Amino acid sequence: MSSQSYLVPYPTRGSVLGEAELAAVSRVLRSHSPLSAGIHRAAFEKRFCELTGSAHALSVTSGTVALALAISVLGLRPGDEVIATSQTYKATVQPLLEHQVTVRFCDIDRTTLNADPDSIKSLVSERTKAILLVHYGGLPADMESIMSIARLHGIVVVEDCAHALGSLYRGSTPGALGDIGCFSFHSSKNITTLGEGGMVTVQNDAWAERLDRMRSNDSDAVFVPSPHPLGGREVPPDWMLHPGNAYTHGCVEVLNAGTNATMPEPSAAVGVVQLDRLDELVARRRDIAHRITALLKRYPFVRTVEETHGVRNAYHLYTFFLDPGCGVGRDAFVDRLVRRGVEIQLRYFPLHLMPEWRARGHRLGECPVAERLWFEEQVNLPCQPGLSDQQVAWLLEALEAVLTEVETGTSVLASP
Ligand SMILES: Cc1ncc(COP(=O)(O)O)c(C=O)c1O
Repeated sequence: MSSQSYLVPYPTRGSVLGEAELAAVSRVLRSHSPLSAGIHRAAFEKRFCELTGSAHALSVTSGTVALALAISVLGLRPGDEVIATSQTYKATVQPLLEHQVTVRFCDIDRTTLNADPDSIKSLVSERTKAILLVHYGGLPADMESIMSIARLHGIVVVEDCAHALGSLYRGSTPGALGDIGCFSFHSSKNITTLGEGGMVTVQNDAWAERLDRMRSNDSDAVFVPSPHPLGGREVPPDWMLHPGNAYTHGCVEVLNAGTNATMPEPSAAVGVVQLDRLDELVARRRDIAHRITALLKRYPFVRTVEETHGVRNAYHLYTFFLDPGCGVGRDAFVDRLVRRGVEIQLRYFPLHLMPEWRARGHRLGECPVAERLWFEEQVNLPCQPGLSDQQVAWLLEALEAVLTEVETGTSVLASP
């Protein structure tokens, strides 16, 4: 079925844009203020600090760049170990490929698809330097358990908050629950900054200063003071010495070359307007999600994702699980929905089984829960705020028809 013919297409926009966003872009373009690194970026970042309770917020051009810079600032060294969730989009973990570290993929909780604290605990070693997790689908991870493991062992926690804007963990927006938070404002996300954009939230002042340099084409560098050839207290590094005379000038040692990841002003201005609408956008997601959940709960062979440990789900993704013993396999179930006009996109193939990680020795069996859920049980449904009431009604109708078929062991539509 081509995407044009779906009754309920999987929307390519995760947000709704309207007159207020158009007016914001128009104001920026009509003004004579700079189109880069100006007042709108500053305003957007200030709003983000207030929302997340972060000490610093640095906007960038995408969530992928946010994660790459965040991982870069950690100063990982060859031989270090990083624990990462396998159930996420590849950008959460991909920057690690450039850092010659050992990645230990942790398994996930079967009820939330978030990193399982017990699995994390079993993987901690003396070499563990960081934990990378995602708040899967907008449901905050069990941060209390994860942070207590991290603090006990001096491990840094990076939260991938790409799905989490609009969610709450015990009253707080994710982003400052760990040490660094990374957000995405891609077209598909809960808010968008004209299609692409990202944000890094960080508590540590020194890291914020380095991240600011890295995103602005300045090197991330440390100053190496000039040696004291006449016997001062500072000992010059070996490479500054020469059998003849010492090198007598201070210089900088570059850690990261930096890049240009500056969010354009029109994007930042739209970001501020989108933040104003965040509650309304998430309320629509939650309303659709609650209607789907109410329907699913009528069927004993279905498991829904619950809001446990004081969280509010932003429903970036709507996920439920099919009992493998229900008589219809997951793929056949999805196929029946598709043939009734619902576009389905399953998220995410377990990362440890992707070619780049297989090439590094990762194998089937490493994360049994993530694998079982992905290959046998997990179904994702559209629940974006841009779906019309009619499309939501069609979605519920198609879902109910397929669930009833499973319950009664019938199939109204002939098999392909
Ligand atoms: C969990 C997660 N992390 C990171 C990203 C990357 O964000 P971006 O598309 O803004 O680069 C995405 C985007 O799909 C995502 O879903």
